[in-house]
Amino acid sequence: MRFSTKAIHTGQPSEPETGALVAPIFQTSTYEQESPGHDKGFSYSRTNNPTRQRLEGVLAELENVPHAAAFSSGIAAENAVLQAYLRPGDEVVIPHDVYGGTYRILNKVFLPIGITIKQIDTGDLAAVEAAITPKTRFVWIESPTNPRLLITDIAAVAKLTHARKALLVVDNTFATPVFQQPFELGADIVVHSVTKYLAGHSDTVQGAALAKDAAVFEPIKFLQNATGAVPSPFDCWLTLRGLKTLELRMQRHEENAIAIAKALNGQPLVRRVYFPGLLDHPGHEIARKQMTGFGGMVSFELDGTMDEVIAFASSRRYFALAESLGGVKALICHPATMTHASIPAEARAQLGLSDSLLRLSPGCENAEDLVEDLLEGLTEIERARSKRKPVGAAAR
Ligand SMILES: Cc1ncc(COP(=O)(O)O)c(C=O)c1O
Repeated sequence: MRFSTKAIHTGQPSEPETGALVAPIFQTSTYEQESPGHDKGFSYSRTNNPTRQRLEGVLAELENVPHAAAFSSGIAAENAVLQAYLRPGDEVVIPHDVYGGTYRILNKVFLPIGITIKQIDTGDLAAVEAAITPKTRFVWIESPTNPRLLITDIAAVAKLTHARKALLVVDNTFATPVFQQPFELGADIVVHSVTKYLAGHSDTVQGAALAKDAAVFEPIKFLQNATGAVPSPFDCWLTLRGLKTLELRMQRHEENAIAIAKALNGQPLVRRVYFPGLLDHPGHEIARKQMTGFGGMVSFELDGTMDEVIAFASSRRYFALAESLGGVKALICHPATMTHASIPAEARAQLGLSDSLLRLSPGCENAEDLVEDLLEGLTEIERARSKRKPVGAAAR
């Protein structure tokens, strides 16, 4: 069965009692037992729930592994993975461009309990090899990264990680299983902010952690129940609905991202465009090798003042200024003051996260409308600049 058929058919039979094509939302906290300890596989909805079970089944199918656990947010999923494995003295290797919330949970929650965090360029295999020690528990990567969409060679990092008996975690939020299958490249654990493309409509916050190996998955599954950050049945149902169009949506997101990257690239007011599909993007060749599409995100650096960057981001017709990404409606974000504000300014500068960087999440709108909106923003900056020029300046 191929991807889009799986997304629509697996684990989602019509409801047996009534034939309802779409299974109802099992909005229940508990389950009647036949006799004490004899239930029908469900005892309490923090532990398990039929709607959540369906979602976990579909997520597992799409990433091609047997095990998935759904959480109430991407960060809750990350927390379960980190808590399941990290003990004082352990080390974690993360990329320079790691998602700000991952940086925060590691530095504010796990560093104080004795975990060492090594932040490196995971695109540089020599740097990865040098960073891994016998104390390394996880190499944790994102590819493409957030927000500069940098690429890491997942298969090569998996080899280096496994040679030192550490586990490779891949945050597959940006690529989605439509464009990238990390387990096939050697990942041990995959995490998702389901909030983004998987759910796809900017109407729910959810996460997931998946594993190929039952023994690797078991402590994560245990924490799903033991610490209890589970999604509601309704949220699971929303994601089940969203997943049915995941492949279609990703195709459209990518088409729009390509159109935008091409249109912005070379514009005088654009210092740099980050999109893995561009030939000069660092990691383009590796993206081509390990992905089946370049994803739906585009970032770029405006050649402008902070005021101009903020004005551009705040006044787009179709790109709402908002955190998050991956929904059908286009979003624009200023990482330095929004998603990555939890990284101190000095650290951001060291990591190469410029204050003039803008991140675009094109939705499923028409590509020409989105491109026009962005080019209009550039023209507005030029117009405002020429108005500010002293009289006679143009003649000199
Ligand atoms: C790459 C990545 N991973 C994880 C997360 C965290 O997910 P959530 O916001 O669902 O907790 C995000 C959120 O933006 C993200 O972009």
